[in-house]
Amino acid sequence: MKNIQIKELQLWAMVAALILFLSTVVISCSSTSQISAAKGGAQLWGENCLRCHNAPSPETFSDTEWDVAVMHMRIRANLTDEEADKVVDWLKTAN
Ligand code: HEC
Repeated sequence: MKNIQIKELQLWAMVAALILFLSTVVISCSSTSQISAAKGGAQLWGENCLRCHNAPSPETFSDTEWDVAVMHMRIRANLTDEEADKVVDWLKTAN
């Protein structure tokens, strides 16, 4: 009987630790997006789009082509919708 109680206690301790861990992850994620929410499209482009290849200059593509390119690259660059919108908006004003 006593043994079961200890196991139950361990289970609750594990659940509590998991909740604590998950809330830390959520808090740190939301604070990261708050930081990047303040960044403009040009900065996000400079920081993200040069990581894997030379980023083509804004005038390389038309507005429609940029929509498609950033739709694909949004996933690769791990940008939020909001960040990708900023990058596209900036590319469109600069092309
Ligand atoms: C994780 C790596 C990675 C990141 C970050 C990345 N790209 Fe790419 N990109 C690629 C790869 C790989 C290709 C090759 C074609 C494909 O798979 O679509 C590519 C292709 C492209 C092309 C097509 C090039 C051409 O000449 O047809 C464009 C335009 C482009 N990327 C723009 C961007 C922009 C804008 C960003 C930032 C939002 C970005 N990329 C971020 C990996 C990346």
